[in-house]
Amino acid sequence: MPNILLIPGSLRAASSSRAFARAIADRLADRAAFSVADVGALPHYNADVTDDPEVRAFVDQVGGADGIVFVTPEYNYSVPGVLKNAIDWASRPAYASVFKDKPCFVATVSGGVLGGVRAQAHLKYILNGMLARVHTGKEVIVAMANAKVQDGAFSDEDTLAFAEAEITSFLAGLG
Ligand SMILES: Cc1cc2nc3c(=O)[nH]c(=O)nc-3n(C[C@H](O)[C@H](O)[C@H](O)COP(=O)(O)O)c2cc1C
Repeated sequence: MPNILLIPGSLRAASSSRAFARAIADRLADRAAFSVADVGALPHYNADVTDDPEVRAFVDQVGGADGIVFVTPEYNYSVPGVLKNAIDWASRPAYASVFKDKPCFVATVSGGVLGGVRAQAHLKYILNGMLARVHTGKEVIVAMANAKVQDGAFSDEDTLAFAEAEITSFLAGLG
C-alpha cells in the first residue's frame, strides 16, 4: 500500500479542509496508508536555522512519502501562508529537494462558490517550480465547504465520490 502524506493548509480545529482530508483518508483507507502533516508546528522559514527538529520531521515526512495530497483553503486568492511556509522549508536545495519528482495531488476548499480554484492554480505552479510530479486530471475543488460539514464530518457524498475517483487515479499512477 502506498504511504500518502496529507498536508492540510488550515490549522483551525473545525476546518472544512481538515474534515475533507479526514473523510478522504477514511474512504481510501483500504488503498493507501495516510498520515497527516502538522504544518502549524513549524517555525517561520529562516535560512539561518539549519537544525530544527520539527523541520527535520516534516522534511522526512515529505521525503518518505510515496505521494502527497494537499487539501487547502484559499486565502486572499492564494495559498495560506502557513502552507507556503511549510513548502518553503522542504524546498531546499532548489531543484533537488524532497519535492523533486514527488507525486503530488492538490485539492482546494472554500467557504465560497469558487472552491479555492485560484489557490489550486497557485499551488500547482509552486509545485512545478520544485520539479514535483503534479497530478493532472479533473480538479478537486470543494465549494461551499463549511455547509458540507456536519458535526465535524465532511458529509457531501457527490464531492467525496468525485474526489475518490480522482485520488484513486493518482494512486494508480504512483511508481
Ligand atoms: C484570511 C482568510 C482569507 C480568505 N480568503 C479567501 C479567498 O481568497 N477565497 C475564498 O474562496 N475564500 C477565502 N476565505 C474563506 C475560506 O474559504 C473559509 O474561511 C474556509 O472555511 C477556510 O478553510 P477551512 O474551513 O479549512 O479553515 C478566506 C478566509 C480567511 C480566514
